[in-house]
Amino acid sequence: MKILVTGGTGFIGSHTCVELLDAGFEVVIIDNLYNSKEDVVDKIETITGKKVTFYKADCCDEEALERIFNENSIDAAIHFAGYKAVGESVAKPIKYYENNLMSTLALCKVMGKHNCKRLVFSSSATVYGNPASVPIFEDFPLGPTTNPYGTTKLMIENILRDLLISDDTWSIALLRYFNPIGAHKSGLIGESPNDIPNNLMPYIVKVANKELPYLHVFGDDYDTPDGTGVRDYIHVVDLAKGHVNAVQKVLSSTGIDAYNLGTGNGYSVLDVVKTFARVNNIEVPYQIDPRRPGDIAQCYASTEKAFHELGWKAEKGLEEMCKDAWHFLETTKK
Ligand code: WQD
Repeated sequence: MKILVTGGTGFIGSHTCVELLDAGFEVVIIDNLYNSKEDVVDKIETITGKKVTFYKADCCDEEALERIFNENSIDAAIHFAGYKAVGESVAKPIKYYENNLMSTLALCKVMGKHNCKRLVFSSSATVYGNPASVPIFEDFPLGPTTNPYGTTKLMIENILRDLLISDDTWSIALLRYFNPIGAHKSGLIGESPNDIPNNLMPYIVKVANKELPYLHVFGDDYDTPDGTGVRDYIHVVDLAKGHVNAVQKVLSSTGIDAYNLGTGNGYSVLDVVKTFARVNNIEVPYQIDPRRPGDIAQCYASTEKAFHELGWKAEKGLEEMCKDAWHFLETTKK
């Protein structure tokens, strides 16, 4: 079975390619390298000992997609390619709507033309907006979203639902991620943002590595145990394995359904900071700053549906996430 992975050299995409290859699938990657490097393909091949077919191309480019489907017999696709920085999306909404929507429309058009109608879509917990309670269940109300990034994810979920209504031979899984962190145990692949990170863990890693002076903790006055924001951090390898299960599901059924991919455990910012410092025996200086606009107090998943319907459950804890994130930095520093 051959799987097309859009955005396959990215953080989650590359870890998913490793797990797909280890599960016996063949992998074709399309990536424009906007937020990743081509040597990730070599690292995926080193980790797995298997070859990957790579196309450096933009997922909005229908001709490039046509070429891929003409040259490969694709059985299913996982669509990661898209812009994903919440803060940037507020500043550049048109860039986010154009890229995230057009890439999805182009992919679905070419897939349909080639009668490849098995799709796993990289959605997000941000489609729930500010939830009325936690844990969050998949049947919770969607929106209102709090940023254009989240709005693109919700719009794409709606586009895919309409696609299925027009043609019920499609099989689509919408995977709603919580907070992916960590790295493959080899240290060869991980999260390496090009500039100052928006997200908590890559920022902590840069502070620990003395590239940044201290962590800004955005608010300690939330209605949470220690006042700082609570999130559902999930090891990126657990998340990647969830995609393998989702591919197996879409290959064996039709219809559309959404699944939370989280651990069901909520950890605060200070929980993460203190765990990272302890397990890596390293200082992480921080200071409390005002809240970040758009942030919510708590967000963590109910994981029952993914367990019962995908046969998947996250296995790695926060300590392993923190160790693997630091190990990736140490490996890439060498
Ligand atoms: C986590 C916590 C911050 C940085 C992300 C992605 C989003 C979606 C969900 C996939 C919050 C605090 C952060 C910092 C801090 N993922 N923080 N100082 O906002 O939950 O959203 O996960 O779709 O795309 O952006 O993640 O890592 O930015 O923040 O105090 O320097 O850490 O306030 O409580 P977030 P995050």
